[in-house]
Amino acid sequence: MQLKHCHNFNDFRTLAKRRIPGPIFNYIDGAADDEKTYNRNTKSFDDCDLVPSILRGTETVDMSVTVMGQKLNLPIYCSPTALQRLFHHQGENAVAAAAAKFGTMFGVSSLGTVSLTEVREKYKTPQCYQFYFHKDRSLNKAMLESAKAAGVDVMMLTVDTITGGNRERDLRTGFSIPFKLSLSGLYQFAIKPMWGINYLTHPKFSLPQLDDHVDMSGGALSIGRYFTEMLDPTMNWADVEEMVRMWDGQFCLKGVMSPEDAKKAVDIGCSGIVISNHGGRQLDGSRAPFDQLAEIVDAVGDKIDVIMDSGIQRGTHVIKALSLGAKAVGGGRFYLYALAAAGQQGVERALELMQTEIERDMRLMGVKSISELSRKNLRFR
Ligand code: LAC
Repeated sequence: MQLKHCHNFNDFRTLAKRRIPGPIFNYIDGAADDEKTYNRNTKSFDDCDLVPSILRGTETVDMSVTVMGQKLNLPIYCSPTALQRLFHHQGENAVAAAAAKFGTMFGVSSLGTVSLTEVREKYKTPQCYQFYFHKDRSLNKAMLESAKAAGVDVMMLTVDTITGGNRERDLRTGFSIPFKLSLSGLYQFAIKPMWGINYLTHPKFSLPQLDDHVDMSGGALSIGRYFTEMLDPTMNWADVEEMVRMWDGQFCLKGVMSPEDAKKAVDIGCSGIVISNHGGRQLDGSRAPFDQLAEIVDAVGDKIDVIMDSGIQRGTHVIKALSLGAKAVGGGRFYLYALAAAGQQGVERALELMQTEIERDMRLMGVKSISELSRKNLRFR
């Protein structure tokens, strides 16, 4: 199988599985506990059907949206995700370059493997920063200041990682950061030699957002332990209100799931919220963002930009979320499998296919611009 044979999410997933070592694939592919929420996230879209309009002349279609002050040519952006250079040696550079080509937003994580300043300088497209709130307040302040100085467009504070999710696949494989080959995992790596050659012949793995502040040399730290040991479980609304004030720009909370919390986000001055369950990777049994979307849009949709992620694989998923009132959607695995499969070319193909799907779907729905989508286009079963 080659990149040109990838026509959808599952094709990229299959190719990624062939190309990268098992423990790394399972880190991307896995989720919390029994992975029920992970599976429900995508299935939730099937409970809702599209109702198209006909004969409306859709020769030109405008897919652009403005969200949190950013004009995006596509209503889907590349959500910030961790550790991208482990998946493909081009890492965040590949995702940023592809996002820039398609005129959409990308994110760099606190656990990103290139410097957010470096990518901010290189790629001219909106960039958000997935911020993790650490116990060490001076680290938080320094991270905020360097993001400001770099010119990051949107601060995206992750609020659903107050402790690590139970990723049982990672427990079995021993997946950890910084990345270390373990004897038990060696076989998995030995059968994917290209990945190993690329890993060893490109710049050494590092976490530039954290390296200046945290000594990661003392041994491997699993993702769950990072969340549990380094992130601040006391983080509360007052802390975030202060952070919003300090940032003094576009600020959004990622991981809001209830209308009450959405209202509080408005009260403390956020400009956006991302309804998200972290791709099912944190609280298994959590409701799907698409199932919560209408309620939250009804509560705060006129005061704050409501965005959603988790489970989006198809153009029609995007159309359904936007029809219900989301201003834009984020995708994680949707570009990560493509990155793992083929680097920048892979991410470009994932975005291109998504762009083609959304454009075709809009024509078939009889709408020329995103603002024409509404709940009239949907029926729940
Ligand atoms: C995860 C974090 C790092 O889901 O975002 O693995």
